[in-house]
Amino acid sequence: MNVNGTPTRTIRPAPAARAVDIIDQTALPHDFRWLRLASLAEAAHAIRSMQVRGAPLIGVTAAYGVALALTVHADDATLRQAVATLAATRPTAVNLHWALARIAAHLAPLPEAQRADAAWAEAAAIAEEDVAQCRAIGTHGLALLRPLAGRRGRLQLMTHCNAGWLATVDHGTALAPIYAAFDAGIPVHVWVSETRPRNQGLLTAWELAQHGVPHTVIADNAAGLLLARGEVDAVIVGADRIAANGDVANKVGTYLKALAAYAADVPFFVAAPRSTIDFACASGADIPIEEREGDEVRVVHGRDDAGQPAAVRQLPASEAVANPAFDVTRANLVAAIISERGSAPASTDGLLSLYPEERRG
Ligand code: MRU
Repeated sequence: MNVNGTPTRTIRPAPAARAVDIIDQTALPHDFRWLRLASLAEAAHAIRSMQVRGAPLIGVTAAYGVALALTVHADDATLRQAVATLAATRPTAVNLHWALARIAAHLAPLPEAQRADAAWAEAAAIAEEDVAQCRAIGTHGLALLRPLAGRRGRLQLMTHCNAGWLATVDHGTALAPIYAAFDAGIPVHVWVSETRPRNQGLLTAWELAQHGVPHTVIADNAAGLLLARGEVDAVIVGADRIAANGDVANKVGTYLKALAAYAADVPFFVAAPRSTIDFACASGADIPIEEREGDEVRVVHGRDDAGQPAAVRQLPASEAVANPAFDVTRANLVAAIISERGSAPASTDGLLSLYPEERRG
């Protein structure tokens, strides 16, 4: 997608410099800046600290993290340690573990002398596949959204968190159909929920503004009212892990939107590529939910009037805080899963209709 008119992806390898460049998402929406990752430790830190974030992008970054490690040493112990270090960064998004398993399986049988080059190539292949899959999600999602536009002349959508191109390599998952609808000339408006405590909704607003898509930011708690009032034609979100039965883990607050959408008879769509589906995970109850540090809730970060980074402590450190980063939406609340292969009901049969090669027995 474009930043100030320039085509841009979220991550760009610089193998000659033994490095990879990322957009520092902790600086957005205030500053757009690149950050160079030159080691396994820096890649792991970028994922843990959410300089890169979003399920597909952390998978791609982890693959490049393996390449960074193997550029220094390519023995089995280094490969194992790189995979273990990166796997420990964030637990919920299965794309991370999927990408690490894929690159490790690709590299392990190779002679050490070939591993570094092969790691850079495999990481690049994972990134390219992500771009193609997100583009396809946009096409399939548009087919679902288009018929909803007729009702009031414009398409009123709601999303949560950021499942746009910033969360992937390009295009996004939940935002890909929105961009496709906008580019097809459908009058679109997006309700963007702030997504406390990390405010990923502000990244969504920044993205949509860059593309010229009309949108309005709302406090998370306003979503129910807008849905109940009939001001939303569809809710569309991404996912961090989809269990084999169609249960969906996504950014905390997703579940409340799904409940409110269900009550208002508004379709609730989940857009995600194959790398987000965990066929080994029977149901949402088996998905590990990341618990992040309490200061994300206690301290609000922003900019002061001079544009300088500023932090406001709204709670003392002594105040007990719970900060689960994700929640689980049961499959029965999801109208459809939109993947690169098309859309299907959120159910075991629905997912297997998209990926029949996963059928066992
Ligand atoms: O904690 P984050 O910002 O990494 O969480 C991101 C989300 O929950 C996204 O909705 C999800 O990863 C889908 S991204 C295409």
